[in-house]
Amino acid sequence: MSTLGTARAVPGDWFPGTIPDNARLDEGAYVETSYSFSLCRSRMRPAVTMGEGASAYLGTMFDVGESGRVRVGRYALLNGARIICDGRVDIGDYALISWNVVIMDTYRVPVDPVLRRRQLRFGPPPAAERGERGVGSRPVTLEANVWVGFDSCILPGVTIGEGSIVGARSVVVGDVPPFCIAAGNPAKPIRSVREQDRSP
Ligand SMILES: CC(C)(COP(=O)(O)OP(=O)(O)OC[C@H]1O[C@@H](n2cnc3c(N)ncnc32)[C@H](O)[C@@H]1OP(=O)(O)O)[C@@H](O)C(=O)NCCC(=O)NCCS
Repeated sequence: MSTLGTARAVPGDWFPGTIPDNARLDEGAYVETSYSFSLCRSRMRPAVTMGEGASAYLGTMFDVGESGRVRVGRYALLNGARIICDGRVDIGDYALISWNVVIMDTYRVPVDPVLRRRQLRFGPPPAAERGERGVGSRPVTLEANVWVGFDSCILPGVTIGEGSIVGARSVVVGDVPPFCIAAGNPAKPIRSVREQDRSP
């Protein structure tokens, strides 16, 4: 059974908030605290989808702008990731996202200094979003069975192919093909996931 259309409290939550009514949690999906949704401003329905058995642990933040949509696939696990989404972020089934990973489909901050000044005059986010931001978004896709090591950063427009691994503290600026281990800044392929390490 999935839930959409009602704001829900998380049993035993330390944060006095609720999971917003436009977040869809499928059967067995787990969210440790509603604080994860405190930056979710999306008006989309659904704004965040968590598939069957997906989980979001402490430190995970859905920082989703008004038109943003995030999908977390079945049994995917987010262990303290920050997802910054103004358009589309798609995390595949069984993806494993480690501590302090940032996945962003937008930089949020304009390159133009005049626009940056205007944004700063509006105050800190989310008030800053009322200013003209002049920043677009490019969808980010992590396909099924991707594993992203801790402290890594996935930048706008990136697709990481099925079964690939991103090494700890990497900055991923371009696409990573399927079954590839990529690492570094900028992330480069270091080797393939061996055939014997792939399930039939
Ligand atoms: C990506 C990873 C899994 C690869 O492990 P591995 O296959 O044993 O790789 P190796 O240690 O043999 O390294 C292979 C090469 O890649 C480089 N490399 C590995 N990880 C790297 C990283 N994170 N950043 C930069 N370079 C890296 C190594 O220096 C080595 O380079 P060399 O061939 O020039 O000597 C591992 O390095 C890693 O980053 N693990 C993170 C795990 C994690 O985040 N766990 C949290 C719990 S979910």
